[in-house]
Amino acid sequence: MIVLGIETSCDETGIALLKATGGIRAPKFEVLANTVSSQISIHRPFGGVVPNIAKREHLKALPLLCRQIFGNDKNAIKIWKKIDFVTVTVGPGLEPALWTGIEFAKQLAKEQKKPLIGSNHLEGHLYSCLLPQKKSGRNVKKQDQTKMFPVVALIVSGGHTILLKMDSFSKWKRLGETRDDAAGEAFDKVARLLELPYPGGPEIEKLAKEGDPNAIVFPRPMIHDRNFDFSFSGLKTSVLYYFRDHPKAIKADIAASFQQAAIDVLVTKTMRAAEQFGARSVILCGGVAANKALRQAMSDAARSRKIQFLVPEFTYNLDNAAMIAAAGYMARLRKKKYPLRANGNLGI
Ligand code: KG4
Ligand code: ZN
Repeated sequence: MIVLGIETSCDETGIALLKATGGIRAPKFEVLANTVSSQISIHRPFGGVVPNIAKREHLKALPLLCRQIFGNDKNAIKIWKKIDFVTVTVGPGLEPALWTGIEFAKQLAKEQKKPLIGSNHLEGHLYSCLLPQKKSGRNVKKQDQTKMFPVVALIVSGGHTILLKMDSFSKWKRLGETRDDAAGEAFDKVARLLELPYPGGPEIEKLAKEGDPNAIVFPRPMIHDRNFDFSFSGLKTSVLYYFRDHPKAIKADIAASFQQAAIDVLVTKTMRAAEQFGARSVILCGGVAANKALRQAMSDAARSRKIQFLVPEFTYNLDNAAMIAAAGYMARLRKKKYPLRANGNLGI
């Protein structure tokens, strides 16, 4: 099947064309086109995403990305003929931003007489690890897919930190989640404290490379708790107090020590879940999974326990429409129907 995916949940506009084959046990994907237009530089002066500006920028970017995908009218007719259905993110995310994508998708689908289905952004992140590796174009091997369960999956993004136990690609249970800030939010807030630009995650990562992760011992909230919930707001506050009390401290040391504390909690709790539930694989996904130190720490921890480690290709960690098309395909296979209206708090 050929799926057109549309993503506008936050500050990236994305349209992608995905070839999807295989059943729910062994889906296979080929990314035919993946366009993303980032609004980061527009939101940067505000230190975060401004919903109404996001909406305005999505409105501008959607027709431009469509042009990139479809080219001229003659080409567009050819491509539309091959498309089986359109899917659009309905949540979670910023509702004004989500609505622009939904309305745009509705109009496209109507004009082209194609079915339209809703996609869950979090499922997009989860299934993003199944998108082919860019260099090799290789999918997760069929035999590895069937042998990979049970899976423990950690979704870490700007809005979510969720740990799941998956018995298959269609059946999972939430083990825990953050009780306050998401991991990405903590990176963004600590970056702001250190006067680094938005979004903070990549900036902290860059600065942390020059610092000593053991310079300051920040708390590792809930690391020893028996449950699988997280809490990052106390960690952020500790950084705030430390910086207030030590204004001359080396910022790179603060960044590295904060990053290490966050990584320790994420890896420790994910591995404890993996051991408790006898996981054969661990999935790490979402925007924060772009962090190389986190990827390395999780990969090392999994490898030492002989657990398969899956992480999306870098391009697919941050918000994109290829993962939304994959989530749409999977939702269709699962017969999961999301109402075609923005749901900012949609869960997984
Ligand atoms: O998944 P995503 O693009 O959007 C949401 O669905 O929220 O994630 C964005 C989040 C931001 O908080 C950003 O600071 C964080 O992911 N992020 C990172 C890195 N790259 C992005 N956090 C840590 N290290 C990074 N390299
Ligand atoms: Zn996301």
